[in-house]
Amino acid sequence: MQILHTVNELRAWSRAARTAGKNVGLVPTMGALHAGHASLVQAARQRCQAVAVTIFVNPTQFGPNEDYARYPRTFDADCAMAESLGADVVFAPAVEEMYPLGAETFVEVEQISDRLDGQSRPGHFRGVATVVAKLFIAAEPDFAFFGQKDAAQVSVLRRMIADMRMGLELIVCPIVREPDGLALSSRNRYLSAEERRQALVLSRSLRAIEQLVAGGQRDSEKLTATARALLAEEPAVRVDYIALVDWATLEPVEKAEPGTLFAVAAWVGETRLIDNTILG
Ligand code: PAJ
Repeated sequence: MQILHTVNELRAWSRAARTAGKNVGLVPTMGALHAGHASLVQAARQRCQAVAVTIFVNPTQFGPNEDYARYPRTFDADCAMAESLGADVVFAPAVEEMYPLGAETFVEVEQISDRLDGQSRPGHFRGVATVVAKLFIAAEPDFAFFGQKDAAQVSVLRRMIADMRMGLELIVCPIVREPDGLALSSRNRYLSAEERRQALVLSRSLRAIEQLVAGGQRDSEKLTATARALLAEEPAVRVDYIALVDWATLEPVEKAEPGTLFAVAAWVGETRLIDNTILG
């Protein structure tokens, strides 16, 4: 497995793979890899003959009071995991490589970027769209793999790909969970044992909502009220949002339909966690 640091190296690798008749899969990450990331690399490995994993803690998607400085950085372990999963390349650029001195070009996916996480984290999706566009331009992938875990991110990136007529397909992979239901996240390592236990209320409330929908309840107000009551059973968990939205636009819906996104975000101590389900 090669470790590349510059955009030119990544582009040359990708073009050589294409010339050799291979299709190129890209798995963008911020590192601190876990089994959720691993599932994306495995999906890429199955679908593509050439696979690049990117590891870049993107400063522009963090707010001024967020965890950019303390975000976990585990580069050696990440490379070992990527290699064991069969990645061909890890792309790990420096900040100045992705944001050259004087950079003032950003990608703004309007409207949708202000919903859900974008509402609580102003500028977050501008940073995500910008860095992912840069990665797409560098790697020229045929397929790019993202997790449903960050469902609003998927919506924003799908809009960007469609609007910019980017010639690639975004593949969404299911949420990987711990056996007790907690969705894997690089930020879970911030949680104390007590907070980790409290955090289970997120996935528990999603399962309850799925059951209500399966039982015929489709009214958005009733479903969100139930979720709010369930989340309140852990007083230490502070709800950021509970949303029942169209997954494509992130606009609220009145009735849950098949494919509707039910998403929650909450603070557990100092850690903000998100989780969601696509209703059947
Ligand atoms: P990061 O949080 O490292 O996540 C990288 C990818 O892994 C995302 O597509 C995310 O949805 C997926 N992922 C995380 N936890 C998962 C889980 N439990 N199950 C399945 N997939 C999971 O998302 C980002 O980085 C950044 O915003 C990025 C797109 C790399 C741009 O900087």
